[in-house]
Amino acid sequence: MSEKVYVFDTTLRDGEQSPGCSMNLEEKLKIARQLERLNVDIIEAGFPIASDGDFEAVQAISAQVRKPTIAALARTNREDIERAWEAIKGAHKARIHTFIATSDIHLEYKLRKSRSEVLQQVIETVRIARDLCEEVEFSSEDATRSDIDYLAEVFEAAIEKGATIINIPDTVGYAIPQEYGPFVKELISKISNREKAIFSCHCHNDLGLAVANSLAGIENGCRQVECTVNGIGERAGNASLEEIVMALRTKKALLPYHTDIVTEEIYRSSRLLSNLTGAFVQANKAIVGKNAFAHEAGIHQDGVLKYALTYEIMTPQSVGIVSSTLVMGKHSGRHALCKKFEELGYELSKEELERAYFFFTKLADQKKEIYDEDLVTIVQDGMKIIPDTYKVKYVHATGGNQELSCAVVKLERSGEVFVESAYGDGPVDATYKAVDRITGMRGRLLDYTINSVTRGKDALGEVFVHVDFGGRNYTGKAASVDIIDASARAYLNAVNKAMYEKEREQERESESASAVEL
Ligand code: KIV
Ligand code: ZN
Repeated sequence: MSEKVYVFDTTLRDGEQSPGCSMNLEEKLKIARQLERLNVDIIEAGFPIASDGDFEAVQAISAQVRKPTIAALARTNREDIERAWEAIKGAHKARIHTFIATSDIHLEYKLRKSRSEVLQQVIETVRIARDLCEEVEFSSEDATRSDIDYLAEVFEAAIEKGATIINIPDTVGYAIPQEYGPFVKELISKISNREKAIFSCHCHNDLGLAVANSLAGIENGCRQVECTVNGIGERAGNASLEEIVMALRTKKALLPYHTDIVTEEIYRSSRLLSNLTGAFVQANKAIVGKNAFAHEAGIHQDGVLKYALTYEIMTPQSVGIVSSTLVMGKHSGRHALCKKFEELGYELSKEELERAYFFFTKLADQKKEIYDEDLVTIVQDGMKIIPDTYKVKYVHATGGNQELSCAVVKLERSGEVFVESAYGDGPVDATYKAVDRITGMRGRLLDYTINSVTRGKDALGEVFVHVDFGGRNYTGKAASVDIIDASARAYLNAVNKAMYEKEREQERESESASAVEL
């Protein structure tokens, strides 16, 4: 029997803190629920001391996602650790993950502390964490550039004080597998109380080697691997969950380790994350890229048709890419649509099906063929939790390379209709200026992406925006066969999120003011 490797997913912490990947509370909850379906062992839900939003998200995930362990990050100080515990104490299984840097370069320039001061801090704070929470993980930041004997001493002390998971991060993505593997092995051998802990690898991808290093870590004694969906994370990202899991699954003979990941949920997890953040994976990304299972060359196509394994080392079905049997079109009814969604892995409530059916019939009137991707877009777009404070009633914009663009926009709010027009540098800019005039929210567009969801001139255009409102970054998305309509609705999606958050903040403030009065 192969040995189990625990999957520690840090999409919501290391992944979420990378540019363009921030999510609000509802979006984080959606990801956490999907990670539960994927069956990860541990979800690192956030860094509670970092902000009230992070704290709330970790607390909500702890309350609502019951199967995996919920971990919260904390620096090695009492305040961080107590805040982390406060956020996860309602979890079914909770873990405090505390860390401090151990490399001389970090000690000298960042922490301005000596090795013995850091060691002392670890001894004191791991104990504090352990007194609060039964499960404590300790990480030494920049482990791979730390002195190995000093690191072994720090780890030994952390285990002595109650940490049962010891993480060895390659924080700056500087290691190569031939280095990281032997480093892990030698390090573990130097820790006298090593049998009391599980060792973990956490690799960044600056040299494109995060997955290779993680596999080397596993081969040399790590039984926990830290990773993110789509490999999102600081700079070049973290090790990609799907690549590690599928490498272990595909190369069982050479790598006799297994995970409990439900691999059929991989593709859906990847799509959900991209759809929520607008951070899409490149077409040739291993496992989840658009072309990962596409065979273009004639010789390859011929081979695959004769016998799939000639060119396929794993099946698309094994990662949840289903080639569906039901063809959807204008005449398909609710029953067929419901069956189709089941095939695609979505169980819709009656209300969700009704809403999806409404969008489906609208789309079927506009385009001939409805692809699986169109339906996934409908269901993910249509199940927004943020209330649509403003809705687009009408949008018309002119463009071209000879004149200034102009847009007329009509929005509805609680039954009242508002109309504005504006000039701009192009039809999208003009539309956004008109929207700003109506809502009174001045947005700064940070990023704008448009993708064609499927093939053909009548394909759905999916627009993602990142907009700054008053120093805070919001994402918005929408799909339509008309790209100006999609652009307006994506922007409005971000506006609605910003307004919703503002209103919730005001509510919280007035609640705490009335609590003080009492
Ligand atoms: O990369 C890193 O060192 C980290 C630690 C906080 C575990 O993310
Ligand atoms: Zn990291």
